[in-house]
Amino acid sequence: MTRLLITGGAGFIGANFVHHWLGTHPADRVVVLDALTYAGNLANLESVKDRPELRFVRGDIRDTPLVEQLLREERLDTIVHFAAESHVDRSIHGPDAFIETNVQGTHSMLKAARTVWLTERAVREHRFHHVSTDEVYGSLGPEDPAFTEATRYAPNSPYSASKAASDHLVRAYHHTYGLATTISNCSNNYGPFHFPEKLIPLMIVNLLHGRALPIYGDGRNVRDWLHVSDHCRGIERVLERGKPGEVYNIGGGAESENLALVETLCAVADRAFQQRPELIEAFASSPAARGEKSATLIQFVKDRPGHDRRYAIDCSKAERELGYKAEVTLERGLQDTFAWYLDQQWWWRGVMDGSYQRWIETHYR
Ligand code: NAD
Ligand code: DAU
Repeated sequence: MTRLLITGGAGFIGANFVHHWLGTHPADRVVVLDALTYAGNLANLESVKDRPELRFVRGDIRDTPLVEQLLREERLDTIVHFAAESHVDRSIHGPDAFIETNVQGTHSMLKAARTVWLTERAVREHRFHHVSTDEVYGSLGPEDPAFTEATRYAPNSPYSASKAASDHLVRAYHHTYGLATTISNCSNNYGPFHFPEKLIPLMIVNLLHGRALPIYGDGRNVRDWLHVSDHCRGIERVLERGKPGEVYNIGGGAESENLALVETLCAVADRAFQQRPELIEAFASSPAARGEKSATLIQFVKDRPGHDRRYAIDCSKAERELGYKAEVTLERGLQDTFAWYLDQQWWWRGVMDGSYQRWIETHYR
């Protein structure tokens, strides 16, 4: 039986991972530590909140004594560290929070793990898994080979620089102190509970309301899309089969230019409106409700400063050593994701109008 501390478990990927793990390991203990920033939502854990195996703690990863206390009192042996500031645009406008959470916060987690697991020897075996990003490797040209685990770090945004720094700290704690760490660097996730500031959920919500679909620059930037369910299975493989001190790239094998991706999403929406007439009344301001193409909403806007041109992940190491393979194709993943946003309007409406944040403030002061 594994006893996990999942940081950032009320965020997009963390919450998907909590659902995944409780589904595949129903007897394990799962403690979620999350500060519930704008990106963290208890609504993401609504369907599992009454599971006796799950405990939610509102707290900050920079609070080292709190992390130590949780590790001790729950006899936790595994940390899956998701908590971070994750949005590149926000890092450009306000880098400080990224240094505080991603760098200092990760160091606080490492210090707590070192004290309880290495100094006090509170558990027999332990694992500190750090969830990182392909953005630490920088930007690729159109013909460059995909990022491998050996690609030189070249982060370009305050976000990716802060993630790179956190990766180095994790590596150093393994090398210097012998902490049993693993790191996974993954590509762009999408799927349920994705906060509507990121490309795919923003485009879905905007097109349903007939709002512009802003494409940065020329729309030719390439991302390698990974369905969040594949990412969760990849992390599970790292925990179960990965070797301490190792790094694993996890990708979706689905490169797409942003413009092409948004056009595909628009086509998915147009088909959904044809197949589900109730959408016409529910989203009357969407072009699809008038039989027009959602893609007419596309607008090219000023580029993101320092915008990385292309990311692509070579995950052959994870395939070879862990038996990892992405299962969800981009086409199917976009259809499922669009359907999820249609069926779970309560979720994104609550997230966007701030009602969850207000509820959290009254219940979790
Ligand atoms: P997210 O922004 O949706 O969620 C982050 C979570 O961390 C939120 O629940 C937030 O409340 C919590 N958090 C933030 N600061 C905290 C603090 N100081 N203490 C405790 N909790 C705090 O992020 P995400 O998209 O789910 O990403 C999760 C992790 O995966 C991050 O480390 C990110 O860098 C990495 N990652 C994300 C992607 C992606 O496509 N989303 C891709 C590669 C890597
Ligand atoms: O590659 C992994 C990274 O993917 C993660 O580490 C980050 O946490 C995650 O946010 C994501 O970063 P991106 O910057 O790639 O994701 P975002 O959804 O913000 O943007 C995807 C692409 O779409 C990017 O090229 C910028 C572009 N874009 C984004 C938005 C929000 C637009 O053209 N218009 C938009 O409105």
